[in-house]
Amino acid sequence: MRILVAGGAGFIGSHFTERLLAAHEDVVVLDKLTYAGNEANVPAGAQFARGDAALIEDVEAVGTVDAIVNFAAETHVDRSILGATEFVRTDVLGALVLVQHAHRQGIRLVHVSTDEVYGDLTAPAREDAPLRPSSPYSASKAGGDLQVLAAVRTFGVDACVTRGSNTYGARQYPEKLIPLFVTNALDGEPLPLYGDGRQVRDWLHVEDHCTAIELVLREGAPGGVYNVGADDERENREVAARILKLTGADPALLRHVDDRLGHDRRYALDSSKLHALGWRPQHRFETGLADTVAWYRDNRAWWGPLKSGEYRAYYEQQYAERFNTSRPA
Ligand code: DAU
Repeated sequence: MRILVAGGAGFIGSHFTERLLAAHEDVVVLDKLTYAGNEANVPAGAQFARGDAALIEDVEAVGTVDAIVNFAAETHVDRSILGATEFVRTDVLGALVLVQHAHRQGIRLVHVSTDEVYGDLTAPAREDAPLRPSSPYSASKAGGDLQVLAAVRTFGVDACVTRGSNTYGARQYPEKLIPLFVTNALDGEPLPLYGDGRQVRDWLHVEDHCTAIELVLREGAPGGVYNVGADDERENREVAARILKLTGADPALLRHVDDRLGHDRRYALDSSKLHALGWRPQHRFETGLADTVAWYRDNRAWWGPLKSGEYRAYYEQQYAERFNTSRPA
């Protein structure tokens, strides 16, 4: 097959492209190269087209493909709180453009979404749980999911939606909890833990997330929604403590800072629908995190340059005041 991977120069999309190439598929990556996309992430062997998934002319310029997998998204909750326009553009309009293209071409679309569309949870959510997004980011992702599912119902498009939990691994942009804390710890910089640090996330290794999406691409039922969770829930303060230990950094670097607005306490997924297709995560958090820390330790050349320029300006805006009023953990 020739597969279009939208957002394939980003974190999960580039790992997924690697997987498809290993399976001898022909891959074309379409990526706008925003701050979080990096052409160097595109694996050798994939064709690369710079372009915007929300612009039909850029999508059509890629040529004929047999399927589309959509990773193209603005993904960081904290940035969406600072401004959501780009989130609506890429996460909603991008999903709409791609599902319309899939419709016209008569091809399959897998739309990669997030557990955050279910909002704060007290029990694991199934795929038919109500959508109650809390942040401008998750509201945008929910909008994209709904466009895709409406096209399935209205036009009979062959599309599936995956909703993954918090993903970690090599090549994740250092604004998210794990790469931010790891790179700060390696640099002897403070680690900003929001609120009481007892929020819970279900940590999914990027390779497990990719095997799930590949399975849905090949075997998902048309119109199917599939949760992808690792059943490996951890409090943020545990994640921080493990990172301090693995990096050997001074525990005094950990600081409690003002909480994120609208912060969801817990995400948790019931992934039994995907289990029924035969998928199981292969990585446990302890070893996956140790491997990830080792990758960041060995690949400063990848992330060091990212932590200047645009990143520095964002970091100051996001954390300067928080550190001024921070408390020891
Ligand atoms: O659940 C899937 C989602 O996971 C994805 O859809 C999102 O794209 C991805 O960003 C992630 O969302 P989160 O908001 O859960 O991830 P983040 O890494 O930003 O934060 C994880 C937890 O750590 C969350 O409870 C907030 C907390 N945190 C985060 C940062 C950046 C801190 O305590 N301090 C921080 O500086």
